[in-house]
Amino acid sequence: MKILITGGAGFIGSHVVRLFATKYPHYKIVNLDKLTYAGNLKNLTDVENLPNYKFIKGDICDADFIQNLFVHEQFNAVIHLAAESHVDRSISNPLEFVMTNVIGTVNLLNSSRYQFQVAETVFQKFYHVSTDEVYGSLGATGLFTETTAYDPHSPYSASKASSDHLVRAYHDTYQLPIVISNCSNNYGPFHFPEKLIPLAIHNIKNNKPIPVYGKGENIRDWLFVEDHARAIDLLFHQATSGSTYNIGGHNEWQNIEVINLLCDIMDQKLGRAVGHSRQLINFVKDRAGHDMRYAIDATKLQKELGWTPSVQFAEGLELTVDWYLNNEIWLNDVTSGGYQHYYEEQYVKR
Ligand code: NAD
Ligand code: TYD
Repeated sequence: MKILITGGAGFIGSHVVRLFATKYPHYKIVNLDKLTYAGNLKNLTDVENLPNYKFIKGDICDADFIQNLFVHEQFNAVIHLAAESHVDRSISNPLEFVMTNVIGTVNLLNSSRYQFQVAETVFQKFYHVSTDEVYGSLGATGLFTETTAYDPHSPYSASKASSDHLVRAYHDTYQLPIVISNCSNNYGPFHFPEKLIPLAIHNIKNNKPIPVYGKGENIRDWLFVEDHARAIDLLFHQATSGSTYNIGGHNEWQNIEVINLLCDIMDQKLGRAVGHSRQLINFVKDRAGHDMRYAIDATKLQKELGWTPSVQFAEGLELTVDWYLNNEIWLNDVTSGGYQHYYEEQYVKR
């Protein structure tokens, strides 16, 4: 089986590539990534020399390039993670999100359809990795289920919702075998430090202010990234065509609670006085259209496939803090932009 994984140099994609390339040595894994600011081949140094792994630099928005790649590689399946993923950037530059998340997804769907209907190789699955943000915002109670109506509020979530609809339309119209999963907020190693948890870790480490939007009362349902990768593995192999699954941690926290926890863990690890890092908390102007609460009901995935999160939040946060403290070079590289030269060094000159 030859699997195209898009966005494999990003945060979640790198964990999915690692899991598939190491767990399934008989699969061929092709990682296609444009290496935007969020893509980093240093996330994959431990797998880059595996014989069943290959990296290709490319843009999913380039339809001709994608079609040629499919013709040349004859993929049997796609796991699609490539996306613009940061809500704040989507507010500043919505069109980039439409281009990558909507048009890029349609390009992949078109070539997958060709592979499914015309090519001789068997095309087994188009797995689309999506987000719980498509469901909009919850009040104080209730959970998102697979039948919750879509109600996106940010350009990011609207672009992901569009892509979900298109993936489903290719199943209903062309019988393309698809699976969609909608996951809650991930955290863990290799998370780009523009998102809440890695940004806070970076700023606490450097004694810089921690920006908390509004009153910090917004709630997110946090899942350790390796648990997400495990769920993708299960669903890729076992979910029936046309199905949708929610993935989430049953792990709701207000943003301010997460920040307080991180401050306390890091004070202890860095030998700082109790309460030192909480003084860095800086309440700033709220995000426009800021969704109040996300929370996932993952009962379907649990009942049908036996998946539950394996990493508790306290343990996962500590693991994550340790990883960032032990990987200073990675963190300094991505905050200085130095990592963007790695591709040239590793792949062009060889
Ligand atoms: P990320 O921003 O860390 O990584 C995205 C990757 O896609 C990067 O490597 C980037 O270089 C690549 N990419 C961007 N545009 C591209 C293009 N035009 N062509 C090829 N590659 C391109 O994102 P992430 O947090 O790892 O998210 C991965 C997927 O999971 C996204 O689809 C996102 O919507 C979804 N998701 C994320 C979360 C989360 O908490 N991070 C939760 C649920 C779902
Ligand atoms: P983020 O990590 O950007 O993920 P998402 O917006 O996809 O949920 O943000 C998580 C929460 O943290 C969200 O409610 C916005 C908030 N937030 C801050 O308070 N400060 C920050 O600097 C960032 C990046 C996010």
